[in-house]
Amino acid sequence: MDRTFLLIKPSAVSAGNVGGIISCLEDAGFAIAALTMKTMSREEAARFYDVHAGKEFYEPLMDYMTSGPTVGMLLEAEDAIAALRRTVGATDPAQAAEGTIRARYGRTVRQNAVHASDSPERVEHEADIYFGTDGTEAA
Ligand code: CMP
Repeated sequence: MDRTFLLIKPSAVSAGNVGGIISCLEDAGFAIAALTMKTMSREEAARFYDVHAGKEFYEPLMDYMTSGPTVGMLLEAEDAIAALRRTVGATDPAQAAEGTIRARYGRTVRQNAVHASDSPERVEHEADIYFGTDGTEAA
């Protein structure tokens, strides 16, 4: 089984969508291998989104991602990274396919409910920041 990382963003947590999002993930066949809730520090958020540093949406993204609690998960499935990105849908909720998590729970491009890792290297990087480990010790 492959592993990937998913983060539920502050607006989805405050809207009470954690349970709905977890149900979508379990219905899609993902097993939860680790789960933690925390408010990210500015330093953690900057490392998490290092690839976007300097872009025009970066500073508002930092403000948003540190604005409240988030939920991070390691998820297991066959071909987990690609499967999760299909389940999550397009970055812009308005473009996301019907039934995807972002179509159901996203509000705007920034408040798009969840983040999903896009490569094995990013799973390791993002899980390391979130859990303080690459997740191999979890569960
Ligand atoms: P995510 O998958 O978490 O990766 C980076 C995030 O930056 C992305 O989802 C969006 O929430 C946000 N983002 C990307 N492009 C824009 C944009 N043009 N305006 C605002 N936010 C953006």
